[in-house]
This record gives sequence, C-alpha cells and structure tokens, in this order.
Amino acid sequence: MSNTTSIPDLSQALTLLRAGELVGIPTETVYGLAADASQPAAVAKIFAAKGRPNDHPVIVHIAGVEQLTDWAQNIPDSAYQLAEAFWPGPLTLILERQAHVSDSVTGGQNTVGLRAPAHPITHELLRQFGGGLAAPSANQFGHVSPTTAEHVRHEFTDDQLKLILDGGACHVGVESTIVSLVGGVAKLLRPGGISRAAIETVLGTAIEHHTDQASAQQRVSGLLDSHYAPRTPLLLGSLSALLQVASREHSNGKKVVLLTQEENTTIAYPQHKMPNNPTAYAQEIYATLRRLDQEQFDLLLLETPPQGAEWLAIHDRINRAAQQKLN
Ligand code: TXA
Ligand code: MG
Repeated sequence: MSNTTSIPDLSQALTLLRAGELVGIPTETVYGLAADASQPAAVAKIFAAKGRPNDHPVIVHIAGVEQLTDWAQNIPDSAYQLAEAFWPGPLTLILERQAHVSDSVTGGQNTVGLRAPAHPITHELLRQFGGGLAAPSANQFGHVSPTTAEHVRHEFTDDQLKLILDGGACHVGVESTIVSLVGGVAKLLRPGGISRAAIETVLGTAIEHHTDQASAQQRVSGLLDSHYAPRTPLLLGSLSALLQVASREHSNGKKVVLLTQEENTTIAYPQHKMPNNPTAYAQEIYATLRRLDQEQFDLLLLETPPQGAEWLAIHDRINRAAQQKLN
C-alpha cells in the first residue's frame, strides 16, 4: 500500500452505511460490497445484489485487532499472534462468534470470519465507522472478482449500489487467506494473499489444508465450475495441449486467445503474455480475464502456471474459474 494515497471525504459512505445501504469498498485483495454487519436487513441486500445463496457466510471487516472481542469469543492466543503479524492485511480469521453476531453474517454457523484490510481508504472508513462491515467480493455470484472500481460498476445497477469508493487497482489481486482457529486448531480454509509458510512460521507449527465449506458446497451442488469464472469458456492446460486445441478451433473459425507464460512466435491467433512472477500474476489475473471476456472470444486458453507454494492461491482460483482442464 502506498502511503501517498489521499483519503477522500468519507461522510457520504458513512451516512449510506449507517442508513443500511451498500457501499463498494477497495481492499488490497479485491473490492468488497459492504454493509453494516450489525444490521441484518442491510446484510440481506448484499445477498440480493450478488444473487448469492443466503447460507454462505460473509467476512466481517474491522479496523484492527482491538475489535476482535466485539465479534468473537474464546479467542485463542494464536489469533492474536496472527493478527499482530499480518493485520492490517490479506488474512481472514475464523473464530467462535459472539452471540449477537447475526445469522445473516455467519450463515447460521457459530463462527465468524474477521479481517482488518490494509487499504488506507477502507482502513480509515472502518476507523471512523467504528463497527464491522460485512463484505464479500463485489461481483455477481460465481463471476470474476473485481480489482478496480470500474469492475464493480459493471456488476451492479446504480440502485443496488449508490457509491463505490475508488481506491485504484488492488495490489494483491486475489482474495485473503482464510485460517480457522476454532477450538484452537489452525486450519487453512482458503489459500490467498498470505502464504501458508508465513502463517506456519508465526504459529511455529504446521497447519492442515482443508477446502472451505463454501467450495465443498459448490462441489456438491455442481457449481464449482462457475466460481471466479469469466462468461467465455476457459480451458486450463499445458502449453502443448492448448496449442492443439487452439489450432483445431482456430481452423474451425473460432476466435481463440492463448494466455501463456512465454510469448510464442509461431502462432496465427491472438495471445497474451502472463507474468512469470506470482505477485504480478495475482495482481493481473482477474482484470485480464474480465478484459478478454469483453472481446468476443469463443474460447480462452490459459497455460497452467508453475507449481510451488507462491502459486497456490493462483492455482486455487484458476482451477475454479476453468470450465475444463487438459493435460
Ligand atoms: O479478500 C477477501 O477476503 C475479500 C475482501 C472483500 O475482503 N472478501 C471475500 O469474500 O473474498 P467472499 O465472500 O467472496 O469470500 C469469503 C469466504 C467464503 O468462501 C466464505 O465461505 C468464507 O469466506 N467464510 C466467511 N465466514 C466464514 C465462517 N464463519 N466460516 C467459514 N468460512 C467463512
Ligand atoms: Mg467472492
């Protein structure tokens, strides 16, 4: 986060939030669709605007660690260790909820997800707001997450979303890492902006990797393939597999585009070079998928990026975005 970001006047955002309206907020990961977490009717507007199933829990965003006890109880020491190490930042902690936290936020579970985002505008908004802001990513359910204010504007009508705070392009570009600490046992539920290794270093122990509940539900209901997804079919695979598909489809008159790690000089159809550095790749992937989605291609062909710990969150997202995987 650059410390030169100037903070706009936040009074309109605060007024809307207190009146139970939605506001688009920048975070370092992706933009959020925020509502006052203490007003169930306001949180319900998030689900309606996104077309999201009501039983999916939403993350409550707070200014900092001093607000943990407003929302969670029986907080293990490990939560304070992680919050002190990584907040404000791209880490969400799942903890036992306080009794007052509404079912609209928790999806009816006895846990709550808490995160202190690092973007200076939203950090200041949260500080002035004082409470918590329930905020999922500001996209239609299943669609690509937004990393600019303009992306958010494309997802909702002016009636649904009266104000978007423009904080520029998101620096991290993929969602926060989610760690459950319920019962004092650390579990990685979603890889993201903070690496598993960094978390393990702070905790001094290895953590298990579980798939999160929402993705388990998506698997069960067959919706997995539509998560984080562009509208144009996306195929993920090795370069050799994609080159075969691309030349076949191209000669059938289809408009294809190849997204590769290296420029390929021999092909006759459009290509886009993806970054070789995982930080830059994460910053660009959602914006790239959105842009190509608007260019009337029939098929997006994405080369599987390298393996390795720094690529974990990227693999997680593009695997869910892809309609099909080739080897
Ligand atoms: O980076 C982020 O986390 C972004 C920005 C806006 O903060 N937010 C985000 O929210 O990605 P969303 O709603 O798109 O994803 C939140 C994930 C979901 O998979 C949800 O199931 C999980 O967090 N989650 C939230 N509360 C939970 C809880 N109490 N227990 C288990 N999972 C929870
Ligand atoms: Mg999301």
